Amino acid sequence: MTTQNAETPEAAAFLRDARAGLSARPRALPGKYLWDETGSTLFDRICSTRDYYPTGREMTLLPGVAAEVAARVGPGATVVEYGSGASRKIRVLLDALPQPARYVALDISWDFLKAAIARLAQDYPGVEMIPVHADYSQPIALPVDLAGGPVLGFFPGTSISNFSGPQAVAFMERARATLGTGWFLIGVDPTRDEDRLLRAYGGADGLMAALHLNLLARANREIGATFDLDAFRHEARVLDDPFRVEAHLVATRDTECRLGGEVFRFSAGESIHTDNSYKYAPEAFQEIARRSGWTPEAVWLDELGVFSLHLLRSA
Ligand SMILES: C[S@@+](CC[C@H](N)C(=O)[O-])C[C@H]1O[C@@H](n2cnc3c(N)ncnc32)[C@H](O)[C@@H]1O
Repeated sequence: MTTQNAETPEAAAFLRDARAGLSARPRALPGKYLWDETGSTLFDRICSTRDYYPTGREMTLLPGVAAEVAARVGPGATVVEYGSGASRKIRVLLDALPQPARYVALDISWDFLKAAIARLAQDYPGVEMIPVHADYSQPIALPVDLAGGPVLGFFPGTSISNFSGPQAVAFMERARATLGTGWFLIGVDPTRDEDRLLRAYGGADGLMAALHLNLLARANREIGATFDLDAFRHEARVLDDPFRVEAHLVATRDTECRLGGEVFRFSAGESIHTDNSYKYAPEAFQEIARRSGWTPEAVWLDELGVFSLHLLRSA
């Protein structure tokens, strides 16, 4: 794990965002700071719990979808994955594509990304591996030229759900600018079943709580915050208009945290909003795609109707 001192640009940005979020009402910390090596390791364990259905449901769809996508994309492709994490799902695509040329893996969790790519490279010696430390909430300039061969973007794990509708449109516009002409395969969660959602986002064997509490632990480690982790509990809330699951860290008693020369006081019951998961029905997501300049080509829904994969194209 990388320990940053407050002098690095990353630590300075974390400190600035944390102070702004804790000063706001309602209070919030940006979800992108969930993702350091500890957070990524916890999420990888979450993926194999029974409660966290998106991974299992997406994996039931992916082999069949990958074969259809491979037939359209053809040989020599560069695959660009956003938020690649442990880079497990990409294996299904790399196995299906005819002679894939390059795999560009983008993630904000740099140490975890490098380790995942080192493992993948051993199993795919014919594919050039290009890990890129990037924040996809910002514009991204890739270190490779994508011209001259087919391009397939890949954004699994319903990470698009972290974006509200307007944020999703802006992300998809940025992705189009980065990928240029090509295809984009995106996993999207349309689930509306509240019990299922609360088990996945509130439970997952207590690992969801650990993932979100790690955000406070990370602030203590990296930017000198003094959160008392025992004074907060994690809570998932299902909300309407627009339909979403929110993650909160709720103070269980009056508590305070010093950060950057300020003292932030929390009353019992007050919460810090740490993440969103917006749920998009197939038509709603296709509308987002069209508004951002992508053409919907195909959508596949799993047999329980709780996960979808969308194939988009930009001309
Ligand atoms: C929900 S996990 C999904 C992981 C994996 N793609 C999967 O489907 O299981 C989200 C991934 O996106 C990465 N991530 C989150 N926010 C990011 C950002 N703003 N920029 C780049 N990567 C980000 C995290 O580090 C993590 O690996």
